[in-house]
Amino acid sequence: MKNINYTRLLKQIISVTENESNSVANLSNITSILHDSIGGLWTGFYMVDTSADIPGLVLGPFQGPVACTRIAFGSGVCGTALSLRKTQVISDVHAFPGHIACSSLSNSEIVIPLFKNGEVFSILDIDSTDFSFFDDVDKQGLEAICSYIETIV
Ligand code: SME
Repeated sequence: MKNINYTRLLKQIISVTENESNSVANLSNITSILHDSIGGLWTGFYMVDTSADIPGLVLGPFQGPVACTRIAFGSGVCGTALSLRKTQVISDVHAFPGHIACSSLSNSEIVIPLFKNGEVFSILDIDSTDFSFFDDVDKQGLEAICSYIETIV
């Protein structure tokens, strides 16, 4: 059973980012903290890009295997979180219609949208090699961390 202390993680993230205003630097360090503490296969951010030929998400700071650079609005778990503006907790990605398999090793996934002025500007995506890795505790803990990130990006 995993034992992730999200209160401690949030404190660590605040202490590492509170004196820095650069978003790339802060998202990069947040990705590192989450990846090392949660032990996912892939941890990272996609940023909303509405100016692209195919509007949707473009890859941001991440840790893990090489990932798709762009995801269209409504595509896969990430594009679904973007279009529904709602956290997606997927216990078996292979059963999710339209799941985008950046790595064949991924079996479960959580995607949390981040908001600015009422609009999604980014999503946090974490993949695990375990089935059903993410539960309601992870959802609440990561949503609290994303609420903090919304105030610094
Ligand atoms: N699986 C995601 C794509 C991104 S990677 O997992 C890094 C999706 O279905 O949107």
